[in-house]
Amino acid sequence: MSFKSEIARRRTFGIISHPDAGKTTLTEKLLLFGGAIQEAGAVKSNKIKKGATSDFMEIERQRGISVATSVLAFEYKGTKINILDTPGHKDFAEDTFRTLTAVDSVIVVIDVAKGVEEQTEKLVEVCRMRNIPMIVFINKLDREGKDAFDLLDEVEQKLGLKVTPMSFPIGMGYDFKGIYNLWEQNVNLFSGDSRKNIEETTEISDLSSEKLDELIGDASAEELRDNIELVQGIYPKFDKTKYLEGHLQPVFFGSALNNFGVRELLDAFVEIAPTPRAKQSEERLVKPDEDKFTGFVFKIHANMDPNHRDRLAFIKIVSGTFKRNTPYLHVRNNKKLKFSSPNAFFAEKKEIVDISYPGDIVGLHDTGNFKIGDTLTEGEVINYKGIPSFSPEHFRYINNADPLKSKQLYKGIDQLMDEGVAQLFTLELNGRKVIGTVGALQYEVIQYRLEHEYGAKCTYENLNVHKACWVEPTDKKNQEFEEFSRVKQRFLAKDKRGQLVFLADSMFTLQMTQQKYPSIIFHFTSEYD
Ligand code: G4P
Repeated sequence: MSFKSEIARRRTFGIISHPDAGKTTLTEKLLLFGGAIQEAGAVKSNKIKKGATSDFMEIERQRGISVATSVLAFEYKGTKINILDTPGHKDFAEDTFRTLTAVDSVIVVIDVAKGVEEQTEKLVEVCRMRNIPMIVFINKLDREGKDAFDLLDEVEQKLGLKVTPMSFPIGMGYDFKGIYNLWEQNVNLFSGDSRKNIEETTEISDLSSEKLDELIGDASAEELRDNIELVQGIYPKFDKTKYLEGHLQPVFFGSALNNFGVRELLDAFVEIAPTPRAKQSEERLVKPDEDKFTGFVFKIHANMDPNHRDRLAFIKIVSGTFKRNTPYLHVRNNKKLKFSSPNAFFAEKKEIVDISYPGDIVGLHDTGNFKIGDTLTEGEVINYKGIPSFSPEHFRYINNADPLKSKQLYKGIDQLMDEGVAQLFTLELNGRKVIGTVGALQYEVIQYRLEHEYGAKCTYENLNVHKACWVEPTDKKNQEFEEFSRVKQRFLAKDKRGQLVFLADSMFTLQMTQQKYPSIIFHFTSEYD
């Protein structure tokens, strides 16, 4: 197959949702359709179960699982589908944000009864900012839930999307009869049999046809006709260009658990979802069909086995082909590296591969060379943009609890930060180190891993910080910046890249500071132009 057709048949995406909306179940059903797994239950949930937050073994187990489910690839109707796992747990939201830099599109799963939930809002906002094409799947139609039109309204209002229903439910919960597929113009009846793999559909291209009444009964048929008329009156028609630009989001309804509505979703997905997209670097826009290989690290996973300290760096291939045993330039280190056993990922296993194409993810064994965001190329200096850090929510001083092991501690902290577990800030005033995290759970993970992987011990001390802001003086030499640096010295720190950060202890302080020093810009993410 030619290089161009290999690109054209790839779809790399992520499924995002609030925990429990059905992401794992949907992933599993997609794999079943692809024939990549034979039975349900094969994909292990990667979520931290409730109540397990302080159980270290549980965290370790989950980390193990998340390697296995980091990338799930399968073939469906001639397309190669790569699903990138996005942890739903909010303490790992930053992991998810980074993974979203490597997807070409997403599917958003929403629980019909709960509607739009907090995590969904945050994740969709990130996708919206980047104009990532999104498809919405409203799940659990076998249960009593919100009215379909109310839900579509909620999706538009809370998520700021413009939707176009591609299917519409006939009844719900106890009365759930099936789905009318506007895209394929057919009716798919619900039998509640989750073992059924291929669903039977009845073509109804004319909704006034009597066949519909026979199929679902007069009352339901009438209601469906009214509903579809309303849908067609209210919502715009599907427009592929608008979807690909991130301005229109198709919506599907179904029940992942019952394998219902999933085939429709998958069929539409392979047809409309984008092939690997071009990516902006600091230097230029890089297109997937360029000859020369480029790619970037979006995730690093530590090995759970303390005897094998190597890590697995996940690289998204942006352009060209990635070949085994070929020297590539590690741009940040200006060093050539060669990989003898790059891993490709399949549904349940990983394998060594000789060649990978744009859209694919390869896992490279790493002994500490990589940081999140690093770029590999064939020689050109390219730095991919778009892996920002957000202000952490929690801040604590980290102290060394075993003076004989300070080297191990600093090495451990360094490597964990490279993996993106948390953010490190060094105070300008006294060099003390502050760890910032998205969730409290990370402190336990860090402490545990420092001890078990690096033999170092640490303690934490509370620090009252509301938000970290990246400081951009419009003029470094002006008096205002000098005064700010002097007055706020106690609250200034450097992040890992040496960028200046202001640790504001309250919203009020932050607002006052912004007012007092108008020539300084305070950013809430580390990446700004
Ligand atoms: P997540 O990855 O988004 O966190 O959600 P997950 O797929 O684990 O699903 C969360 C719960 O919702 C699971 O039940 C799952 O069986 C259920 N579920 C998923 N899709 C549907 C659906 O279409 N209809 C109904 N009725 N339920 C659905 P659980 O009891 O929490 O877990 P389990 O013991 O079944 O694994």
